[in-house]
Amino acid sequence: MTIRSKIVGTGMGVPEHVVTNHDLEKLMDTSDEWIRQRSGIAERRHIREGERPSELAERASRRALDAAGLEPGDLDGIVLATLSSEHDFPGTSFFLHRRLGVPEIPCFDLRAQCSGFLYALATADAYIRAGMMRRVLVVGCEVHSTGLDLTTRGRNVSVLFGDGAGAVIVEANPDPEDRAGVLAVRMHAQGEHAERLWIEAPGSGSYPLRITAEQVAAGRHFPQMEGRFVFKHAVTRMPEVLRETLDAAGVKQDDVSWFLLHQANLRINEFVAQAMGIPPEKCPSNIERFGNCSAASIPMLLDEGARAGRLEPGQLIALAAFGSGFTWASAILRW
Ligand code: UT7
Repeated sequence: MTIRSKIVGTGMGVPEHVVTNHDLEKLMDTSDEWIRQRSGIAERRHIREGERPSELAERASRRALDAAGLEPGDLDGIVLATLSSEHDFPGTSFFLHRRLGVPEIPCFDLRAQCSGFLYALATADAYIRAGMMRRVLVVGCEVHSTGLDLTTRGRNVSVLFGDGAGAVIVEANPDPEDRAGVLAVRMHAQGEHAERLWIEAPGSGSYPLRITAEQVAAGRHFPQMEGRFVFKHAVTRMPEVLRETLDAAGVKQDDVSWFLLHQANLRINEFVAQAMGIPPEKCPSNIERFGNCSAASIPMLLDEGARAGRLEPGQLIALAAFGSGFTWASAILRW
């Protein structure tokens, strides 16, 4: 008998502190107009001192558990995708593990940057279909704000990113009558372009210490991005992988109700929708309010859609992301 996995609960957690484009104008040479025009972003959230990534992840996870009518003790495992971990090691998932008070179930962090949630969903789906786990908490969690160059030097990157977490509960669905579930997932990577969007240090690539005074002085501990190069690849790879995953799922594009695309830049998603002939109203966004939350963006969109009642049982939903690595991935779900 084929076991399929399905999402049975969603949640999100964002800091309360709102940072508008006008707030950023006070820190660097930028403008509300430039940020809105190039990215569609009006505001994002930043943590305040004392807040932790695992706190946002806990909020998202507890909401997802509540939505599913489950307790932390019902989980068999946790996969947390992040590129902005709470400490160098252990991963953020271990701090979430402690906060949730779960029994000694396995957990780990997964690093696939903005495609991280889809890689994590694929991992949970594979464990479930292999019969290794029945119920997995999948989380995307980012605190970018503590790692951004909030001066004019870093403006091409720092205006784009925000903090947030999104979570889903993925559960085995052995009922052949219930068609809901993850129908197909496809993932890709191209390490050739690793340095086109990265943070160089701290890391073991820097010798003999993981970071040097020169790197700090040059701001190499902040993200560096070749924006146009990344943009060009994103608008090519996302349609490619969406088509591949639709084919793998045996689903027609027109039958998909919602395209939940990674929130890196509203203009990227407008390009993707236009290139594929997807009506813009099928591509909801939250980047205006939250900026780019990397691995958290897609589960946050799922949670907003589920809670607003937009996602209805039986609907087909396509997810797609592109990010640092480069990585890109897509999943087709029946809700
Ligand atoms: O989630 C991971 C994946 N990330 C992405 O997908 C991001 C992909 N890239 C992008 O979305 C776009 O490349 C950006 C929104 C980052 C930038 O837009 P762009 O149209 O590619 O701008 P640009 O980097 O070519 O810069 C254009 C100008 C430059 O000035 P000059 O050289 O023309 O005088 C920049 O210095 O805009 C300037 N600029 C800014 N001005 C005001 C760059 N950042 C800012 C800023 N405010 N924040």
